[in-house]
Amino acid sequence: MATRTLDELLAEGVRGRRVFVRADLNVPLEGGQHGDPIKIGDDTRIRAATGSLRRLLAGGARVVLASHLGRPKGERKLELSLSPVAERLGELLERKVAFCPDVVGPLASAAADGLGDGELLLLENVRFEPGETKNDEALARGFAELADIFVNDAFGTAHRAHASTQGVARLVPKRAAGDLLRAELEHLEVVRQPERPLLCLLGGAKVSDKLAVLEALAPHADVLAIGGAMAYTFLAARGEPTGNSLVEPDRLEDARRVEEAAAKAGRRLLLPTDHLVVEKLEPDAPAEVVAQVPDGRMGVDIGPETAAAYAAEAAAARTIFWNGPMGVFEMDAFAKGTEAVADAVAGSSARSVVGGGDSVAAINRLELGDRIGHLSTGGGASLEFVQGKTLPGVAALEE
Ligand code: 3PG
Repeated sequence: MATRTLDELLAEGVRGRRVFVRADLNVPLEGGQHGDPIKIGDDTRIRAATGSLRRLLAGGARVVLASHLGRPKGERKLELSLSPVAERLGELLERKVAFCPDVVGPLASAAADGLGDGELLLLENVRFEPGETKNDEALARGFAELADIFVNDAFGTAHRAHASTQGVARLVPKRAAGDLLRAELEHLEVVRQPERPLLCLLGGAKVSDKLAVLEALAPHADVLAIGGAMAYTFLAARGEPTGNSLVEPDRLEDARRVEEAAAKAGRRLLLPTDHLVVEKLEPDAPAEVVAQVPDGRMGVDIGPETAAAYAAEAAAARTIFWNGPMGVFEMDAFAKGTEAVADAVAGSSARSVVGGGDSVAAINRLELGDRIGHLSTGGGASLEFVQGKTLPGVAALEE
């Protein structure tokens, strides 16, 4: 089944048509305490959305833009308003971005009807509506009433079957994939069908959060290198000491199963061979490197030997997929392992895809973005895609 591209849509003509664009403008926010203004912590996703918007506006489309921000659970929460995003988007596009404080209804309809050719309107946070995450038909119809054409460019939300990603797509006769969505899928397809060896670096706190992707990648990746706190559940499953490290006792069996799946497929699953440990998780806690985590201590980062081993795998790989930090990366003293991996991925000649907020933040902090094949704007979405799952937001675009 085919999905219309933005090129095809633009060739058919969009002048004077109302185009409902779903983007993922779910950006981290800062401030908002003690009367401080709320500021955008990182505008990567807003920048990533501008490509398709510029082309549609240049083509004379009347763009109605929608996104979620955070998880307000169907309530209007002022601190999760998209209004600061409208301002930043206006700066980036160097044009006026009208903002509608409603999502659907008479105000939104009037604002959409008031658009001229090449003008843009941003609707308020779609998750202020309880029907959004329930993929409610009436809400989807409300969105569809604002549009002649639907463009989904929200790769980061493509794994959610929500009213503004999936529901609306079925109700608008003409639909297309935005440039960002298409580029993300093309880059991630390289991980699904890799030039080998494929190295997958997975980090983060919990096995339970990433079990499905661990299960999918263990037999697929030539090398699956694990870091972050989830490594301790794997080490505990092997019977190694883990001290007070974060271990999920009810996931030991799952960890064993993942190891077995890798072994059965003749793949290698690597765990840290040294660790940075502390007594208490505090930013300036005294830390030391050990081969095994002693009683009373907890692992907070991979050690230098592990970082060097993972870097050597990155140098030998032809394709790399990385998701999740190698340690408690938010604290500078425990960020070295994640930074070493970031450096190694950037230095490798492999095709690389990095997904997930923390790994992308590590790359950006070290200003290595230019040397990475692709920085994905989707954390959960990229994980689901590399598992081989169909993303509902993408499937809904097919004609
Ligand atoms: C993300 O940040 O991964 C996406 O915007 C999806 O957000 P969600 O996990 O709240 O659905």
